[in-house]
Amino acid sequence: MAGVTSIIDSLGILGAGRIGKAIAALAREAGIEVVIAGSAGPVEPVLRADAVVLATPLRQYRNLPDLGGVLVIDAMNYWWELDGKIAEFEDPMTTSSEIVAGALPGARVVKSLNHLSGYALEELARPAGDPERLGMAVAGDDDADVAAVTGLVDALGFAPVVAGELSHGVKFEPLTEAFGADADEEDLTEMLDRFWTSQRGRVVARARGGQN
Ligand SMILES: NC(=O)c1ccc[n+]([C@@H]2O[C@H](COP(=O)([O-])OP(=O)(O)OC[C@H]3O[C@@H](n4cnc5c(N)ncnc54)[C@H](OP(=O)(O)O)[C@@H]3O)[C@@H](O)[C@H]2O)c1
Repeated sequence: MAGVTSIIDSLGILGAGRIGKAIAALAREAGIEVVIAGSAGPVEPVLRADAVVLATPLRQYRNLPDLGGVLVIDAMNYWWELDGKIAEFEDPMTTSSEIVAGALPGARVVKSLNHLSGYALEELARPAGDPERLGMAVAGDDDADVAAVTGLVDALGFAPVVAGELSHGVKFEPLTEAFGADADEEDLTEMLDRFWTSQRGRVVARARGGQN
């Protein structure tokens, strides 16, 4: 998927750590207006942006502001070494982004920008057509919101690969082949496609009673 037009002209980012700053730098490079806030920063300007990226530790998801009506890009992961063991995020019936969406009434949550490393975000963005361009997965329930985020991903320097509905974010969470893999668009597409035949995919499919 190349040459997608981004309709996100301004980007708010909650979380001014490694990932928040890396995404901010990429967005500014792409000519997108950026407002970023850490835990102590004012959040109102962030919420006025066309879309808001969640780049805080996942355990903070209950402390986020009211994001009703906002296009939210969930870049967070359940990383137990950092977050500690949290039982709800270990439930194969659901995904971290669905839990986050459930805690943000009215927010339009799309999962993306989460599965590449900080290094890849900082160093490996490439323009469309570059043979070394990496793929970036996008999952969400609303086609227009998914399209908006694919446009953003493209503008940031990665090839967007649509993975399906928000629940299909399970295909690029930690413990999956796609997570942390520096894969191009074609390889990432194949990794996402074969998720259900992986060990993790079989565990999830079994828990969901064969309903993917
Ligand atoms: N590091 C990676 O390679 C990578 C890659 C992809 C995705 N991710 C995901 O991205 C998220 C952030 O990771 P990171 O490595 O960037 O972590 P980090 O460097 O520790 O940064 C986290 C930032 O979030 C801020 N924060 C905490 N609670 C907040 C709140 N309620 N509102 C606004 N900001 C808040 C922290 O501010 P204070 O310092 O003031 O507390 C800190 O600036 C995690 O969910 C992680 O799984 C990480």
